[in-house]
Amino acid sequence: MEKLLIKGPTHLKGEVTISGAKNATVAILPATLLINGTCVLENVPNISDVKVSCKILSELGAKITWLDNNTLSIDTTNITTSNAPLDLTSKFRASYYLIGSMLGRKRAIQVGMPGGCNLGPRPIDQHIKGFELLGAKVDVSQGKITAKADNLVGTSIYMDIVSVGATINVMLASVLAEGTTTIDNAAKEPHIVDVANFLNTMGADIRGAGTDMIKINGVKELKGNATYSIVPDQIEAGTFMLAAVASQGDILIKNCITKHLESLTAKIQEMGAEVHDYGDSIRVTCNRKPSRANIKTLPYPGFPTDLQPQMGVALSIANGTSTINESIWESRFQYTAELNKMGAKISVQGKSAFFEGVDKLYGAPVYSSDLRAGAALIIAGIIAEGETEIYNLDHIDRGYEKIEEKFKNLGANIQRVSN
Ligand code: EPZ
Repeated sequence: MEKLLIKGPTHLKGEVTISGAKNATVAILPATLLINGTCVLENVPNISDVKVSCKILSELGAKITWLDNNTLSIDTTNITTSNAPLDLTSKFRASYYLIGSMLGRKRAIQVGMPGGCNLGPRPIDQHIKGFELLGAKVDVSQGKITAKADNLVGTSIYMDIVSVGATINVMLASVLAEGTTTIDNAAKEPHIVDVANFLNTMGADIRGAGTDMIKINGVKELKGNATYSIVPDQIEAGTFMLAAVASQGDILIKNCITKHLESLTAKIQEMGAEVHDYGDSIRVTCNRKPSRANIKTLPYPGFPTDLQPQMGVALSIANGTSTINESIWESRFQYTAELNKMGAKISVQGKSAFFEGVDKLYGAPVYSSDLRAGAALIIAGIIAEGETEIYNLDHIDRGYEKIEEKFKNLGANIQRVSN
């Protein structure tokens, strides 16, 4: 078993380059199944969720070649089966995008129930509602999801809940449907726009992505034969912005779209950080202990739930008492118990957590419960006095490329060791 060993405290200083967005990539990879041809993807994050996605695509018949560390060539001309490997699809959440893509391509798919971070109940009723309205029959039983359709016909779909996954999945299923589909109350996250841009580059006709009404005019075929570069990961960028705040450091974050980070930028300025916005890079400097703040997580463009644990670390050592209200997931405060082992004073009541800022954190052995909790614990280890050991690195490796190398370059004393 591997663990991360971090010796702190360190004020992080230097430059970091952000990778392509995990949550865009894990949707765009299944989206390639809609193409009858080849495409090249650039700025692909080299992370374990991407490797598992590639393995699944290969088992479905795709030919995948890594052209370099972050570039993939994918040939989906011959898709030979509609049965995705159940063990692999159960490994991560985004395997549910195979349903939309394969319904589009083959009008049939069987996948294992999607796995992924344990953040509380993660229903997929809105995905299923969308597929059924398009004409598919969906069966969920014995740990499997089976979807089939004789034909998919465009229609109006109103999402009862703003859902990233359901918006993307229904968009995928509609691209090759007959006629026009509209998705109302759609999610607006940057990766939704990125998936739509990718599909349009390959020949789809999708309008309005990034607003709450997306219109998809069905086309006969996606030919591909094009290159697409994945959008930078706004959550990774936000993770480093918060690392600068929590460590009272100075970090220039390169290859990001600062427009995607507005809610976080406003909040850390309120907490006393200095932010210089250069459009495709952002510099965050914090010369003093951050001030208290209140946060409520919301769908984009609100404060992202995927930055909530990292913000929790900054608030744990802020001046004064802060509150976080988590409105997306039921169990996203598991990291607070680990921070408390490090000397934080955090109490959780239902969907709210109260952070009584302490002078400092102290190193301790801690366990990452999910991807973003893992990132938060790394920041906590960097600002804590003494040695922190972080376990359950699988979660972190699912979504962050070269994480310890990036923090090391900023001055952190961090290393991965095998137990
Ligand atoms: C995506 O999950 C991300 N995952 C999550 O990131 C992120 O936390 C989440 O969006 C919110 O931004 C991927 O993109 C792979 P949702 P997703 O559907 O699509 C409820 C990370 O750390 N809901 O927008 O699964 C749901 O329970 C991960 O990178 C339904 O009720 O999230 C939740 O309360 C963790 N029915 C809310 O909607 C449905 O059919 C938003 O979920 C679908 C969702």
